[in-house]
Amino acid sequence: MNDAVRHAHVTGWGRYAPAQVLTNADLERMVDTSDEWIRSRTGIRERRVAAAHETTASMAAVAGLRAIRTAGIEPEDIDLILLGTLTPDYWMPSTAALVKEAIGNTKAAAFDVMAACSGFVYGFATAQAYIQAGLAKHVLVIGAELLTRFLDYTDRSTCILFGDGAGAVVLSASDEPGGALGVELTTEPRGAYMIWLPAGGSKSPPSPETIARGEHYVRMEGKETYRFATKTLASTALESIRRSGLQPEDIDLFIPHQANIRIIEAVAKGLDLPMEKMFVNLDKYGNTSAASVPIALAEAVNEGHVKVGDNVVIVAFGAGFTSGAVTINWTADPARGIAGDAAVRPEDVSVRLPVDWDSVDPIPDALAELMARPGGVEVPDDVVPGEPERAHSEVHA
Ligand code: UT7
Repeated sequence: MNDAVRHAHVTGWGRYAPAQVLTNADLERMVDTSDEWIRSRTGIRERRVAAAHETTASMAAVAGLRAIRTAGIEPEDIDLILLGTLTPDYWMPSTAALVKEAIGNTKAAAFDVMAACSGFVYGFATAQAYIQAGLAKHVLVIGAELLTRFLDYTDRSTCILFGDGAGAVVLSASDEPGGALGVELTTEPRGAYMIWLPAGGSKSPPSPETIARGEHYVRMEGKETYRFATKTLASTALESIRRSGLQPEDIDLFIPHQANIRIIEAVAKGLDLPMEKMFVNLDKYGNTSAASVPIALAEAVNEGHVKVGDNVVIVAFGAGFTSGAVTINWTADPARGIAGDAAVRPEDVSVRLPVDWDSVDPIPDALAELMARPGGVEVPDDVVPGEPERAHSEVHA
C-alpha cells in the first residue's frame, strides 16, 4: 500500500435488535401518555427491549461479528475495536474489551468511546484517523446501548423515547480513493446538564440515597435538547460536507441520529433538502443513542437505499452536548450486508461472565411486570435475520 495516501473505506456493516417489542400501547399502561402523543411529538411507534440474558456487550458482539462477516474478513484481522456507549456492561472493564473476547479476536486494542449519542460517529472519526495515520488496517466501530435499564418508568418525558440495540461497521485501509471523507466533531459543555445521569460516578457514588432519589436514571431537558439538536445536526453535517469538497445537493442520503422525526424534518428544511434524502427508522426502534446511526446505516444499505458511488452523511448529536458528522463516499457492494447478518446467530455469541458472581435481575420492575402479562410484549416477524424468537419467554425464565 502507498504510505502517503491511505483511505478508510466502509467494508462491513451489521446490526442487532433484541426481539422483544415495547409498543406505545404498552407504555400507555405504565405512564400517563398516549400512542397519539408519542407518534405526533416524536414519530416513535415502538422500541426494542433487551432480554435478561442480553447485555450491551452481547448485542455489540453480534452486530460486530455481522459487520466482520459482511466485510469478508476474520475476527482476527481486526486490529482496533472502538465501542460507543453510555450504557456499558460495567464501569470497568470497557465493554469493547468484553466484545474483543466474545468475537474471538486476540490482537486488537479495544476501548470505549464516551460521547453519548454521538459515540459511534466519534468512534468512526477516530478509526478513520488511525487508518489514515497508518496505525490500523481493519477497525471495528460499534455503537451499542441497553437504555431500557437506565430509564425511570414513572417519567413519561423520557421513558417513551429510548430503546435497545447495536450496530457496527468495519473500516478498512485502502489506497483506492473514496470511503470516509470530511469529519466534523463538536462539544458544547454549556449543555452538560441537559441530558445526564446524575449518580454512579465519582461526584455522586451509588448509595441507597442516590437510588431513593432516582439519580441512577437518565434525566433530560427535552426542549433545550431539541433546540440544540436542530441547529447542530444541520451545521455539523454542512461542515463535514464542506470539508469533503462537496455541496449539500451532492449528498444522496443522510443518516441522522434517530431521536425525533420533528428534529429530522427541521434539519431537512434547514438544509433545503427533501425528506426522501433523510433515512428514518426511529418509528421501529425509538432513540437507541450511540446505536442509532449504525443501525440506521446498516438498514439503509440492506434495504437498497445506498449504491456504490453514493455520498452518504452520518450525523449525530447527544449529551455533552456533543455532535459529529462524517461524509462517506460508498464503495462496498450493498448486497453483502444481508448475508453478513444471516451468517451470525445471536445464540452462537457469548460474553464470558465473572467466576463466583451473579447479577441481580437486571430488568426494571415496571418493565418486567408489563412483559410478564400474557401478550404484553410482541415479538414481530421482521426481526433481523437469525435472531431468536425465544427471547421473550427467556426474560421470565
Ligand atoms: O439523543 C438525544 C436525546 N434527546 C432528544 O433528542 C430529545 C429532544 N427533545 C424532544 O424530542 C422533545 O422535546 C420531547 C419529545 C422530549 C418532548 O416534546 P415537546 O414537544 O418538547 O413537549 P414538551 O416537553 O413541551 O411537553 C408538552 C406537554 C407538557 O404538558 P403541558 O405542560 O403542556 O401540560 C408535557 O407535560 O406534553 C406533556 N408530555 C407528555 N404528554 C403525554 C410530556 N411527555 C409526555 C408524554 N405523553 N409522554
